[in-house]
Amino acid sequence: MTSDASSGYSRRRFLTTSIAAAGALSASAWPALGAMQRGKPGGNTTRYPLHIPSVVDFATEPQPLTLTCAPTRLDLGGNRLSDVWAYNGSFPGPTLSARQGTSVSIDLVNSLPEETITHWHGMIVDGANDGGPHLAVGPGGQYSYAFPVPNRACMNWYHPHPHMMTGMQVNLGLAGAFIIRDDEEDALGLPWGNYEIPLIIRDVNYDKSGNIIYNPRTSGFEGKSFLVNGTRDPGLDVTTALYRFRVLNGSSARIYLLALSNGAQFTVIGNDGGLLAAPVNVNRIELAPAERLDLVVSFRGMSLGTKVNLVDVNTGWNLLEFNVTGTNNPPSQVPSALSTIALLGTPVSTRTFSFDGMSRINGLEFEMDRIDFRVPFGDVEQWTFNTAGNAPHPVHVHGASFQIVARRGGRGQVFPWESGWKDTVLLQDQESVDIRIRFDRLPHYVGDQRYLIHCHKLEHEDMGMMSNFEVY
Ligand code: C2O
Ligand code: CU
Ligand code: CU
Repeated sequence: MTSDASSGYSRRRFLTTSIAAAGALSASAWPALGAMQRGKPGGNTTRYPLHIPSVVDFATEPQPLTLTCAPTRLDLGGNRLSDVWAYNGSFPGPTLSARQGTSVSIDLVNSLPEETITHWHGMIVDGANDGGPHLAVGPGGQYSYAFPVPNRACMNWYHPHPHMMTGMQVNLGLAGAFIIRDDEEDALGLPWGNYEIPLIIRDVNYDKSGNIIYNPRTSGFEGKSFLVNGTRDPGLDVTTALYRFRVLNGSSARIYLLALSNGAQFTVIGNDGGLLAAPVNVNRIELAPAERLDLVVSFRGMSLGTKVNLVDVNTGWNLLEFNVTGTNNPPSQVPSALSTIALLGTPVSTRTFSFDGMSRINGLEFEMDRIDFRVPFGDVEQWTFNTAGNAPHPVHVHGASFQIVARRGGRGQVFPWESGWKDTVLLQDQESVDIRIRFDRLPHYVGDQRYLIHCHKLEHEDMGMMSNFEVY
């Protein structure tokens, strides 16, 4: 992973250590509330150095890793402090990194004024390590996780999952990347080191003092501005090389349509559950909340001084300005074959889930202690997701990755970048999506395992569009 220093930018972080520091930040010290204007194309936006969270590599880190959720004050760009909630004082949280086949242990410490629990979105873990809302711990509490990592190489993420408060806690800043490595990926020669960069994109609202606030509507929170890796209007110095961007939509509800401002193609090499079988070239791509994309962008051959923006076509936001400032061009490539995806075979049973209104699945709102269905380990099942309005619903399943086999109505197709392994799929109005899924019982699983299916629009999730199930 890359460090701040290598990008030619540096980021200063301020912790709340003195009243004087806080007092210096009156509302008048925050002139840039029009950040939504400033990210627009054509403007002379001041760019702040893209923050790249530090990496915690479980191969070398003493375990258990302590991960503390706490209020803190950080510079989101422009030397102005904002109140946020953060993991280990970092927003986004530190990028966790582990290899397939190893084990990790993490002690979550709750230093928030309310209950919390952390879920490892995309990680295949047993129910006790999955961080569901029934496992939440109160202020001052702690939860100890220990689990092996069976996932193939991919970028997962971690975020709070307490009952009815996930939207607020994620929006105030609690989220981080969790990258898994494996031998297959290592052998491909993809861009790495300073040329592989996580991008956690989300929208945001501020109060008059520049503190992050969460002011949701039932239809979903949509912020007036955005942050990438917790940085307002970020810029990144690049060289004339290939770059691999590990992109997460960390928003509650906003769907991005990503493109480059020069219209150039870029290459999708992976999604939620890791590499695709083969790369796909696109010039725009849709990304719903909680989905991930693994993108390769080429700056090779560009002249020094060239500026290119990563754009959200839906809003016109220039999410990230790339500034070509060097000619370092290490050997790296995107091979034409990336991985082998074994297709899940003929399902032995089917289930249907209707995402109703803004708070129900199959007519029911979430209840902590109600198990809505039971799934046998080892069976391939076909699940159909329908909606009766109030979409988009980004549908997410815990405990296994799945394969999308069909989308009827609406956009009417499964897109090439939705192939391979997914854990979140966008369901738009009028659409019906079929997935195949199989839960594998890993050797250390004891007893039946409890998981969740839910809408990852965090306001829908918090209002009850979530369902418990057990795998047995
Ligand atoms: Cu990313 Cu159940 O969540
Ligand atoms: Cu999850
Ligand atoms: Cu929804």
